Amino acid sequence: MRILTIMGTPHKGNTRAITDLFLDEFKGSEFDEIVLPNDFSNICLGCANCILKGENNCPHYDEVKCIVDRIKKADLIILATPVFVGSCTSGMKALLDHLAYMWIVHRPKQSMFSKVGLIITSAGGSGVKATVKLLKQNLFYLGVPKVYNYGVTTMKMGGNYVDYKDKDKIKNSVKKQANKVKKALKNKKVGFKTKFFFKLFGMTQKNGWNKVDSDYWKEMGWLDGKKPY
Ligand SMILES: Cc1cc2nc3c(=O)[nH]c(=O)nc-3n(C[C@H](O)[C@H](O)[C@H](O)COP(=O)(O)O)c2cc1C
Repeated sequence: MRILTIMGTPHKGNTRAITDLFLDEFKGSEFDEIVLPNDFSNICLGCANCILKGENNCPHYDEVKCIVDRIKKADLIILATPVFVGSCTSGMKALLDHLAYMWIVHRPKQSMFSKVGLIITSAGGSGVKATVKLLKQNLFYLGVPKVYNYGVTTMKMGGNYVDYKDKDKIKNSVKKQANKVKKALKNKKVGFKTKFFFKLFGMTQKNGWNKVDSDYWKEMGWLDGKKPY
């Protein structure tokens, strides 16, 4: 099994510590990790070329392709981020913006439908719920059918990895959630909601307003009844 962690901060603090507790539960897996913004620091310029003309027209195409290739290879995708002003970090948001063309409504990658997602987030006081919601929505619309989450309110700011004293307190709940993720990885299922949205967006592709999208759906055979799952 291959796990890709997309870490929304280079700060080795609470989020890093919690994520490492999770990764410890998956010993024996192959690990890959993208740290933001170190490994991808572009901000979407809003040209919409990726959606309207094809992703190779994005001004940051080479860097995005490199990330997407790594995403495609993973069975489990972990999005980990501290809460910054009520949301994910700007590094995480900047990367997700570059994946808009892969949303089900446009040109989803077939491999996304057989992955499991996990959102890990830590906030000083509040914002876990909103951040989880945002990231879950992103993974869902990228096609990932099953997404778990683990959010912690740390009541701490600026702490470092070594200081994170709550590790022992949360170990058991991390283990429980990791076990659910492992189960989902063994028994991958595509739920009603994903099937519903795939069908709905498929209907809009039949009289598609965006030729690049509808050509892709045609090419994948999805307009002739084939499914990505
Ligand atoms: C720029 C910045 C903005 C933050 N905004 C929030 C916030 O909106 N809500 C909150 O509860 N905590 C906020 N915090 C606190 C962090 O979410 C919290 O300390 C988190 O656990 C830090 O994770 P880290 O140790 O992995 O960097 C903020 C921290 C920073 C540095």
